[in-house]
Amino acid sequence: MPPGVRLRVLPSGDGQVDLAREVREGLLRARKSLPCRFFYDAEGSRLFEQICSLPEYYLTRAEDEILARHASRIVAAVPAGAALVELGSGSATKTRRLLAAHVARGGRAAYAMVDISSSVLEDGARALVAEFPGLHVEAVAAEYQDGLALLSAEKRAPWLVLWLGSNVGNLDREQAAAFLGGIRARLAPEDRLLLGVDRRKDRLTLERAYDDAAGVTARFNANLLGRIDRELGGRFGEARFRHVAHYDEHAGRVEMHLESLTDQVVRIEALELEVVFRAGERIHTEDSYKYSDAEAEALATQAGFRLERAFTDGAARFLSVLLAPS
Ligand code: AVJ
Repeated sequence: MPPGVRLRVLPSGDGQVDLAREVREGLLRARKSLPCRFFYDAEGSRLFEQICSLPEYYLTRAEDEILARHASRIVAAVPAGAALVELGSGSATKTRRLLAAHVARGGRAAYAMVDISSSVLEDGARALVAEFPGLHVEAVAAEYQDGLALLSAEKRAPWLVLWLGSNVGNLDREQAAAFLGGIRARLAPEDRLLLGVDRRKDRLTLERAYDDAAGVTARFNANLLGRIDRELGGRFGEARFRHVAHYDEHAGRVEMHLESLTDQVVRIEALELEVVFRAGERIHTEDSYKYSDAEAEALATQAGFRLERAFTDGAARFLSVLLAPS
């Protein structure tokens, strides 16, 4: 690690996720499903980077537009001595905007990041210390809760916690409130949380964002099956599935599925398992929850925060809320 960076790997960081057990459980259910956290192996992370620059995937650009315009207002909500603490890798561009604004106002050059992947942390930390001389980076490879627990035991300054990119959208609304409540429990009155949520909008825009013309999201989704083939000796490569993205407007979520195109049986060697699919049967792979302004505020309130400020992009697609402990 370059000077200025400390990387610690906790037991939950880089941990061999129990792919085998989860795949068996998920594919033996009446309604088949696979956990979306398995998307992000090396190939899946590369595909996700591509998704972020697709014309249809407006989320990344909309949030970046907000941060570009409002970074100095956002960092002004915490004292100059505050440290920035990011959950998940986040895009380097977005983080940079906030750090630059914080340092420009004479703020403390201290940044901590929690991510499950130590290689993601290494790359992120390297890029940041190269750009911000004197920056101190605490990188913790762990699940969010463990990483936050470690950092909060060492907390000496106010925090601006960043949870960007609509990552909260993978949790259902109850889980989201519970998770934010867990963050809230570690914060002092002067700390703030910047949360990025995607707004509810018309079906066409949403379904295109999750089913792009170039087929990158379809490949991202199918990579779950590729991963089962590579790591568990699966035979999905010889099977026929199609990518489906559907907006459930009532629930306010885009659901991704992989749909079997025929009646077929797929063997997974390492599990000594043969999975039977009927034509049209689907494997649920991801939910991405969308929020109305009222739902975003309700989420904050339920988790013990009050909404201090809300920012949106010019086209009102995305919402960044600055939350204070209530
Ligand atoms: C990284 C969870 C925010 O749900 O929009 C992108 C993942 N899935 N395209 C999202 C994703 C399909 C993304 N998050």
